[in-house]
Amino acid sequence: MTDGNDNVVVLDSSIEESLNFDGLRLLAVANSQPARTSISAYLTGFEGLEYELLNHQQYEQHGVAVKGEIPDVLVLEVADEKDAMIHIEAIRAEPELEFLHICLLMKQPTKKTIVNLLHHGADDVLSLTPNEIELSSCLARSAVNRSNGNDRSAVAKRRTIVFIHASGGAGATTLAVNCALKLNKEAKRYGGSACLLDLDIQFGDADLQLDLSVRSNLLDIIKAPDRLDFRMLENLMIQGPDGLHVLTAPDEPLPFEALEKSTVEKVLSLARRHHRFVVIDMPMALTSWTDAVLKSADHIFLVTQMNVLSLRAARRLLDALQDVNLENAPMSAIANRYPSKGQGRKISIAEAEKMLRISVDTTVPSNFGLLINSLDQGMPAVLQQPSTKYCRAIEEILERASALAPPKKQRLSLGSFFNRGGSDV
Ligand SMILES: Nc1ncnc2c1ncn2[C@@H]1O[C@H](COP(=O)(O)OP(=O)(O)OP(=O)(O)O)[C@@H](O)[C@H]1O
Ligand SMILES: [Mg+2]
Repeated sequence: MTDGNDNVVVLDSSIEESLNFDGLRLLAVANSQPARTSISAYLTGFEGLEYELLNHQQYEQHGVAVKGEIPDVLVLEVADEKDAMIHIEAIRAEPELEFLHICLLMKQPTKKTIVNLLHHGADDVLSLTPNEIELSSCLARSAVNRSNGNDRSAVAKRRTIVFIHASGGAGATTLAVNCALKLNKEAKRYGGSACLLDLDIQFGDADLQLDLSVRSNLLDIIKAPDRLDFRMLENLMIQGPDGLHVLTAPDEPLPFEALEKSTVEKVLSLARRHHRFVVIDMPMALTSWTDAVLKSADHIFLVTQMNVLSLRAARRLLDALQDVNLENAPMSAIANRYPSKGQGRKISIAEAEKMLRISVDTTVPSNFGLLINSLDQGMPAVLQQPSTKYCRAIEEILERASALAPPKKQRLSLGSFFNRGGSDV
C-alpha cells in the first residue's frame, strides 16, 4: 500500500500479523526502483520468509542458486512478454528448477499476456509494484506447493505411480483407486494432496469405483490442449472421497490418438508439480503416449494374475516396452488374486519372475466379497475395510514404491498375539 509517494510503503498490520512463511526462501530480481521498493517493503514484513534481492547483473552472475541454495520462489522483473518467455524456458529446462515457483513482475501485463505466461510455466504474473496482498497470495500458493512435496528436502516423498496391465480384468484399476485414496490420506499429513488420472480413455471406470456421478471433463482438454494450465486442470478434476482429485475417463470411448503425446506430457507435468502423489491408471493398449507416461513414473506396477495366459500377455507387453527404451525403468510386477497356500498354487513367484524377467514384489490376495461390495456401494476397500489383507497389500505396494514408510516393527506381546485375528480370505 503506498501513500501517494511510490517509495513509501505502509504495511497493513493485520496482514503482517497473520502471515507466517516459515523457512520459505525467495530470490527477488529487479532493477527498477519502484519494483525494488515494493519488494523490500512488503517482504520484510512476512514472518519466517528468507529473501535476497538482486539486480539483473548479479542474477546473471549467480543464477537462481544464491550461495548454492535453490530458493522456493523466484520473483523476477521482466521487460516484456518475450523477455519473460526466454526466462521461463531457461528455468524450466533445468530439471532441478522444475518446482521453482516463478512470479513475474511486469509493467501493465494484459490479460492475454498473463494467460500466455501462465500456460508457459509461470506461476504468477504481477504488476511492477505488487501490493502485499498480491505478494502474500503468491507466497501462500508457493507454500501450498511446498507442502505438496515440491521442496528439495521432501523430493523423496513425491511420487508418480503408474499401473499397467496386459490382460483384461487383472485388477489394475481397483489397485490404482485404492492406492490413490491411501496416498491422499498420507499426503494430508503434510498438508498436500494426491490425484488419480484415469488415462484409459476408452473403457476407464475409476469413476464407477469411486461412485462419481459427475460427467468426465477429459474431452475439454483434448479439444483445447493449448488452454491447459494448472487452474484448468484443477477445474476439470472431480472431487472424490476425502477430496481425492480425479481426472475421469470420457463417457464415450475415444480413439487413443485423440490424446496427443504433448497434451499428456503437459497434464503429467502440471499434476506432478501440484500434487504430492500422482497415481495413473493406464489402458490395456500401447498408445503413442505410453512411453511418455512410463518415463514420468517413479514406479511402474505391472498387474498380472498368476496363470499362463496372463503371464504370457504380461511378457509380451514388457517385450513391446523394451522397444521404447524402458529397460531400466523402475518397474515391478504385482501378482493379483494370488492364491493362499491351501488354495493350491500352480505357478510360483520364482517361475513368474523367470518368465517376466522383472521382480514380482507384491502379492495381493483374492477377496471377491470385499471388492464386489466396494463396487456395489461405490466405496473402495481402503475406506470400507482398511484392516483386511487386501488393504495390507495396498500398503505394501506403496511401501515398494517408497511412497509410504514401512511400518515400525512391533514387538509382539502375548496380548497383541491374541488380538491379531481378522482373517479375510
Ligand atoms: N484381488 C481381487 N480379488 C477379487 N476380485 C478382484 C481382485 N482384484 C480385482 N478384482 C475384481 O476384478 C474385476 C476387474 O478389476 P479391475 O477393473 O480393477 O481390473 P482392470 O485390470 O482394471 O481391468 P480392465 O482391463 O477392465 O481395465 C473387478 O470386478 C474387481 O472387483
Ligand atoms: Mg481398468
